[in-house]
Amino acid sequence: MRPNSNRGFKIRPEIYRVSPYIPGKPIDEVKRELGIEDVIKLASNELPYGPPLKVRQAVFEVAKELNRYPDSHSYYLRQKISEKFGISPECIVFGNGSSELIKLIADAVIVEGDRVIYADPSFVMYPIVATSRGAVKVEVPLTADDLAHDLNRMLEMIDDSVTMVIICNPNNPTGTITRKKQIYDFLKNVPPHILIMFDEAYAEFVTDKDFVSGVEIFKEGLPNVCVLRSFSKAYGLAGLRLGYGFVPEELADAVNRIREPFNINLVAQAAALACLDCEEEYEEIRQIVIRERERMEAELSSSGFTVYRSQANFIFVDSSVDSTLVFKKLLKKGVITRDGSIFGERFKTFLRVTIGTPEENDRFLSEFPLVVEEIRRGDF
Ligand SMILES: Cc1ncc(COP(=O)(O)O)c(C=O)c1O
Repeated sequence: MRPNSNRGFKIRPEIYRVSPYIPGKPIDEVKRELGIEDVIKLASNELPYGPPLKVRQAVFEVAKELNRYPDSHSYYLRQKISEKFGISPECIVFGNGSSELIKLIADAVIVEGDRVIYADPSFVMYPIVATSRGAVKVEVPLTADDLAHDLNRMLEMIDDSVTMVIICNPNNPTGTITRKKQIYDFLKNVPPHILIMFDEAYAEFVTDKDFVSGVEIFKEGLPNVCVLRSFSKAYGLAGLRLGYGFVPEELADAVNRIREPFNINLVAQAAALACLDCEEEYEEIRQIVIRERERMEAELSSSGFTVYRSQANFIFVDSSVDSTLVFKKLLKKGVITRDGSIFGERFKTFLRVTIGTPEENDRFLSEFPLVVEEIRRGDF
């Protein structure tokens, strides 16, 4: 039965089975609510630095054309990404953030009752997308030892009703990767009617040689593989919303039929194009993030905390006490993080912390052990 709204129209019942996305708290909100000025945000896996001057200039320049609709096909950006990755322009799709691409691809392939397989915990958009389309969620816990995707278990869950398997690599919220051999073994056994979606929003931060990108796999010509990338993380354009995907041509055609024709705005196209001319600047930033990630992991480990080896721009640390209390106490000190308890019982002592500037990370590293110590003493 469909529940009626007060006004008589009907909302699809599956909508009420969706748990809404809870974004990281914005800096301004924390300042307003807690009356503190000095607030840092390590909650949404953003880059801590604004864009290079060249990107800002491109944004300023394009502002004079804001009376016009953007190029619906993102021609120049498509060409540039095609050249950078060596992938045909016809196989590239763009989304208002890679989040939109997850939804568009799901719209293209899922019919009610289909099963969608992904890891638990993983990116919170997957259950939203699956549930709202009437799909059955198959959530496969990450492996106990290294928090990788349990691809053997995922394989066991495959049957004719499965439409899509999502592999988030590196995984959010854990930062861990699923290794090359496991991925190739898995791919050998997956029937071709199942779409394998590699979500690689954090791929640029990977240093582990045992990582294989879905881009490489896509280029090997597997017909049922697609890969999503984002300008939100390594290129720091989270505020502009731009994601891209490499997908089989047939899927690109489907996505292009159903997407909003101007889903990539004029400013996002111009900024992303300029970004791709600033690879040296971004490489420097990437190196800072990687160095800081290693420093955070080393310092937290030497203070006795368990940290899983992250390959993304955030870390997942076990505080050993109630993470909601840690989150709240840090918030009062002006440090916004992500409470691991939202990722289920298994992670109720964990915190996800984005790599910030070295100064921001210093602040987290000095406040975090103090807060944990207070909670251990019973001082809530
Ligand atoms: C794994 C993963 N995929 C996709 C996204 C979506 O990024 P965007 O929509 O900003 O491109 C995120 C954002 O946090 C993410 O963590």
